[in-house]
Amino acid sequence: MVSPLVALTPEIQSAIATALGDDFRDVDPVLRPSQFADVQANAALALARRVGAPPRDVAAMIVDALDLDGIAETVAVSGPGFINVTYSDSWLESLLSEVEADERIGVPVEERQNIPIDYSSPNVAKEMHVGHLRTTIVGDSLARILEHLGHHVIRQNHIGDWGTPFGMLIEHLLEVGENAAEVNVLVTDPNAFYQAARAKFDAAEQAEPAGSAGDFDARSRARVVKLQAGDKETLEHWDRLVGMSKAYFNRVYTTLGVTLTDGDLAGESMYNDELAAICDELERKGIATMSEGALCVFLDGYTGREDQPVPLIIRKSDGGYGYATTDLATIKYRVARLGAHRALYVIGAPQALHLNMVWDTARKAGWLPNDVTPVHVQIGNVLDKDRKILKTRSGSSLRLMALLEEAVDKARALIDETRPDLSEGTRATIAHQVGIGAVKYADLSVAHGSEYVFDLDRMVALTGNTGPYLQYVGARVRSIFRQAGRDPLAQHAPILIGERHERELVKALLGFGEVVTAVGSEYEPHRLCGYLFDLAQTFSAFYENCPVIKAELDEVKESRLTLCALVLRTMTTGLDLLGIESPAQM
Ligand code: ARG
Repeated sequence: MVSPLVALTPEIQSAIATALGDDFRDVDPVLRPSQFADVQANAALALARRVGAPPRDVAAMIVDALDLDGIAETVAVSGPGFINVTYSDSWLESLLSEVEADERIGVPVEERQNIPIDYSSPNVAKEMHVGHLRTTIVGDSLARILEHLGHHVIRQNHIGDWGTPFGMLIEHLLEVGENAAEVNVLVTDPNAFYQAARAKFDAAEQAEPAGSAGDFDARSRARVVKLQAGDKETLEHWDRLVGMSKAYFNRVYTTLGVTLTDGDLAGESMYNDELAAICDELERKGIATMSEGALCVFLDGYTGREDQPVPLIIRKSDGGYGYATTDLATIKYRVARLGAHRALYVIGAPQALHLNMVWDTARKAGWLPNDVTPVHVQIGNVLDKDRKILKTRSGSSLRLMALLEEAVDKARALIDETRPDLSEGTRATIAHQVGIGAVKYADLSVAHGSEYVFDLDRMVALTGNTGPYLQYVGARVRSIFRQAGRDPLAQHAPILIGERHERELVKALLGFGEVVTAVGSEYEPHRLCGYLFDLAQTFSAFYENCPVIKAELDEVKESRLTLCALVLRTMTTGLDLLGIESPAQM
């Protein structure tokens, strides 16, 4: 967990540096949060080694020389030579007043960079599975956060819209007829279409003698050749298939409330015209060589069994290009054309080897300069209750859309129970916000590279580290303001710390800017989730212990209302950066 106060340490760092004097300017005080004080510095430990004195003595010397007037209440030596600094209430009050007056609630704006983010990237004529769901949700949150930090984010939805399967898909399309109901199924259950085409293809291929089950396989292969040659009629059929799948993807995106639009599509087909030149250039530069009929790149450090070098195949022996060639094109394009400073690929963890080989090849070719950082944001598997990889099956209750609908239904049951007083329409809206928010939060609150078990009942629960629990905080604050007949947006009063729970809440609120910045550089939305969960718990403890509307003194009431309003702003903004909506009431 991030300390809410590490961000406040420059003053302390420089005070310690001053106390240490010129000779020790380069001793970096290591600061970390402690349970009993706000921050702990172990400068003395590092220094003691150099001067050969006991760390506790060195720490005592530093404490004597420290000038933290106005910042710290107490400064004391503890343990083997730690320096505990306890911030003064007035210092915390003044810091939070600044945050409160800041419309960005303490989130700094960074120097603008171009950051393409490859995420979602499902395949045409196939069902999006929970893995796609997770990259979509994590990628969308990173896009929102980096944009909020001031960057130019360029969403790249690298859909799988090219390759050999399109031969059989187009032939199947022609056989069932362009306007048949079977084609429309692509929008609701794309796997059914894909599997029907696949079944025909396999049957034709296995048939003895060849051709006895029709020539579907031969026609499919011929169709691929036509597609690659740019045959006009074939391209029209292809376009129809892609169009249907886009409609399906957009249905999912709308349901999820993700920011992807058709303008963000940058599918595999976009790079067709580059692939031949990419292979030529790599061959000319001596980076790629022919091996068993295929054009391959062999890189140092990539060996498999028995130390055999692992090739990156960029042109197959039949002349076709594959996934690796297209990804060479993506990195080249993102660097040269999009001017990327960083390039994020939010894709499955098992693809790490693929990406590293692609990037190393691109570096060798001069397409990926050292000042551009490619990042693999690894997405871990989503498991079912038996800890097996959760699969969406065509027609079964595990279809992705069905899964999302089930989440909304569960949220609806919850709202029907807790808020029967609300109108039908309002309850439907809240159920959608809560159900979808629950699924998103479950994806975001675990480290993106770790596996987790998909359990709708746990996700939708109102207690624990869940989306609904956080959404409830905002709804609760709004209801406090409704009761008081006040507007949270208009609530600005001086912040006063009188009680321990107020102090804890102030410290928690001060940490927002730091955690958002950290997520923007570490790509770990789960840290923002952890922060918001902590904030929610700290707020609960505050609200249980500190009367707000019934506070005895007027200035205390105003300060507490201001804290509540700031909790609302921080929670709403934080959830929004995760892509989660905040219901007005729950
Ligand atoms: N379409 C691929 C899949 O479904 C993911 C593509 C990820 N992006 C990339 N540039 N390789 O697994």
